[in-house]
Amino acid sequence: VGNETILVVDDSRVERKIIRDYLIPQGYDIIEAPTIKSALQLMAEKKPDLIILDLILEDGNGLDLCKTLKQDSDTLKIPIIMITGHNEKNARIQGLESGADEFLIKPVDRGELLARAKSLLKIKGYYEYMLMKDHYEQLEGLVQERTFQLKRTLEKLQSANEHISDAYKDSLYRLSIAAEYRDDDTAGHIKRIRLYCDVIGEQLGLNSKFREIMYATSALHDVGKIGIPDSILLKPGKLNKEEWDIMRRHTTIGSKILGGANNIFLQTAETIALTHHEKYDGSGYPCGLRGEHIPLEGRIVAVADVFDALTSKRVYKPIYSIDDSLRIIKEGSGTHFDANVVEAMFKRVVEIRDIRAASEQEYFINKIV
Ligand SMILES: [Fe+2]
Repeated sequence: VGNETILVVDDSRVERKIIRDYLIPQGYDIIEAPTIKSALQLMAEKKPDLIILDLILEDGNGLDLCKTLKQDSDTLKIPIIMITGHNEKNARIQGLESGADEFLIKPVDRGELLARAKSLLKIKGYYEYMLMKDHYEQLEGLVQERTFQLKRTLEKLQSANEHISDAYKDSLYRLSIAAEYRDDDTAGHIKRIRLYCDVIGEQLGLNSKFREIMYATSALHDVGKIGIPDSILLKPGKLNKEEWDIMRRHTTIGSKILGGANNIFLQTAETIALTHHEKYDGSGYPCGLRGEHIPLEGRIVAVADVFDALTSKRVYKPIYSIDDSLRIIKEGSGTHFDANVVEAMFKRVVEIRDIRAASEQEYFINKIV
């Protein structure tokens, strides 16, 4: 039975005592009120688990109190036992209308009172248990639903960040073409840079996702050249200091063009655009980053880009042979370039040579893209 509280509302002190004496030995807590007013006051302080209510009270009718309590969602679920006299014939019908749960006739029989009280409290307890169970199940369901939604959102974000459509890759490629458009050998340069980076990345043990991203973005390294005037970009011969300062800006312009994106492809492209002229010894630009502070993708593109520039004819320089170009790269290992990247390149030098040589032939270009 526990500590269930029963409110006894009866104007007769004697009647209240009788009922109290029946109930207290059963372990119930009893609170008593002689009037409707005092009953409502008591209930404001402590909500009972059961109410035993006399029909006739000093300040009104028990039926009215019953009706009031059953119309209030706060007290609706508290079971009520109405006590009626023999001669109150219509009370039972009125009691039903007012929402009382049980009726007992005076003089109240102890066994009957205890049985009814116990039964009503049991029903109430069960009802509360079911409510609580429902509530917890709802909560549990809600938590599961929220967790599910969160997971889906995370997956969506993840896939938005990692997945890239062919159309998107194609757009990146076309942006690379736009960036290199003023160069004679645009398509060749883009393809070679991609392949050099891929071979070096594979040799370095980089995973296929990283290599896929590098493949799609490495040729965007010079996208910032869109912002460099032709008079500088296409100037034959050496640039003066002012021109060179402007030329260097293609790194920061590129990172601005590609910056602020929410996917790993453009983020990588931005990094490459910004860092592909940094040097391992810290003497590069635009930030003078040193060693492994230079992102790996920037270090890889640095080697690929310089090798490709050396082996290509540019307005400001003649073509170097592949052997001479490789020698120059090797000389820059550990100073200009990351020695590990150079080492990876030389371990795959046969393929690097093949890419350069084959690039001269158009059929090969058609084959690889
Ligand atoms: Fe560049």
